[in-house]
Amino acid sequence: MTQTIENAWDVLAADWDRLQSKHLREMFDNNSDRFEQFSSSLDDLTVDFSKERIDADALKHLLDLARAADVEGNRDAMFAGEHINTTEDRAVLHVALRGSPADGYQVDGQAVADLVQPVLNAFLQFADDVRAGKVTNSKGVAFTDVINIGIGGSDLGPVMATRAMSKFVGEGPNVFFVSNVDGAHLRDTTRDLNPETTLFLIASKSFTTQETMINAQAAKEWVENSIGVEAAKAHFAAVSTNLVATNAFGIAPERVFGFWDWVGGRYSLTSSIGLSLAIAIGSENFRAFLDGFRDMDQHFKTAPLEQNLPVLLALIGIWRRNVMGCATVALIPYNQRLENFSSYLQQMDMESNGKRVTKEGADVATKTGPVIWGDAGTNAQHSFFQLIHQGTDIVPIDFMITAQPTSYLVEQHDLLTANFLAQSHALAFGKTGEEVRREMLEAGGDPKAVEALVPHRTFPGNRPSTSILYRSLTPYSLGRLIALYEHKVFVQGVIWGVNSFDQWGVELGKVMANRLAPMLDEGADLSGLNSSTRGLIEKIHTLK
Ligand code: F6P
Repeated sequence: MTQTIENAWDVLAADWDRLQSKHLREMFDNNSDRFEQFSSSLDDLTVDFSKERIDADALKHLLDLARAADVEGNRDAMFAGEHINTTEDRAVLHVALRGSPADGYQVDGQAVADLVQPVLNAFLQFADDVRAGKVTNSKGVAFTDVINIGIGGSDLGPVMATRAMSKFVGEGPNVFFVSNVDGAHLRDTTRDLNPETTLFLIASKSFTTQETMINAQAAKEWVENSIGVEAAKAHFAAVSTNLVATNAFGIAPERVFGFWDWVGGRYSLTSSIGLSLAIAIGSENFRAFLDGFRDMDQHFKTAPLEQNLPVLLALIGIWRRNVMGCATVALIPYNQRLENFSSYLQQMDMESNGKRVTKEGADVATKTGPVIWGDAGTNAQHSFFQLIHQGTDIVPIDFMITAQPTSYLVEQHDLLTANFLAQSHALAFGKTGEEVRREMLEAGGDPKAVEALVPHRTFPGNRPSTSILYRSLTPYSLGRLIALYEHKVFVQGVIWGVNSFDQWGVELGKVMANRLAPMLDEGADLSGLNSSTRGLIEKIHTLK
């Protein structure tokens, strides 16, 4: 019999009553198959959640919750192109961007492949032509540098993936990214560049975003001041759904690569928003990247829930957030080239599931999206891991590591791997006071001094982590990793009952910024403002 969601939550709460006093040490001691039982693989990609504080019953009940929330039905509705983004009345079909025509994706009765394939071919051709020096400035000189101007979903994915794929760049121009409305970002990026050989990609789904528009205008002036208005035209291309606005900005239609309203900004990396990445790594690598996404899409679409990696990852997150009450998740790739992965995931996860009302507009009954944060290991060990090991809050971690090294410094990869293993071990098993005492006394410590130090050197352990292991960091494996998280976020949104595909929460601040900008002028009327904002503006005026 199918359970109600309320029932499923009650059963999980009872599971936690049973499990919260159990230590992971005990769980591993009592079950030599724990790794086999609580890990799942899709060929070389393994998700090991055996160091989470769950048992077989809890896992079964999490799967019951997924069924009660109709994760499968909602998933099928997304793949079928239904308008599951209800507040904006849109389909959610980023999966179609990397689908093959044979997948048959449709939106509002139209075959999506007919839309996607021509744009994909066009922007990849443009990318290869930029790399080959066939797209040139007005004097026929190849571009040496490309700057993507965009923010949020029009920046974070391309930044993260371009950095991650630095091994695959080969011959081609340097690719930079400017996002912040702080003029220092554009200034610092262009300082050592030559406007005569710099190409700008203006990436904005709406082509109205304040930061992007003002940076694009400043970039235009930088080029025009150097080579003149006519010649500057060759230095701009755009990625947008707003062809009217790109035209008004002066970008030739053949230099504009579109996408569609059924692609959310934070899910747009595989649309033409990926143009900067495609210029960095070339079309062949970009297509391999898309194949990786598609592979995970197919897995998500077809694998039974018990072996479905995005579903399992989502359910572990639900357990941490709603059953254990953890407010944050740290993402720690043991991979320097994935150093931007957590900022990318921050937008994907927090803009999607940072919601307080259900799709129907009622207050949610449970906590929703956690705070996502993180940094690359081993750097993170030397900044915030102290708190994770011995602080008063439980911070669950998603670790990520490749079996193969990402650089030619092969031995260093073994050390990196040893550090990852050591951290997940130490977090789970800790070190008891008894162990600390014995070790210090055996080393000849003074018993009184040893006793004083025991509480400080004790690690409670029992701190959960999931490890994601895969062979090597390639365009294909990166695509799979990102899609794993995209679908994880989707599943959690379904369980929480929220619309993961709108972002009304970002609007108010945008509107306020536009309203406040004129008030920064000397002599502006500040009378309608609250005393704090007025006081700060007055201080700014005196300090300017
Ligand atoms: O931050 C809000 C947001 O609307 C994001 O969802 C989006 O990725 C970003 O702004 C940029 O929007 P655009 O691509 O339209 O410039």
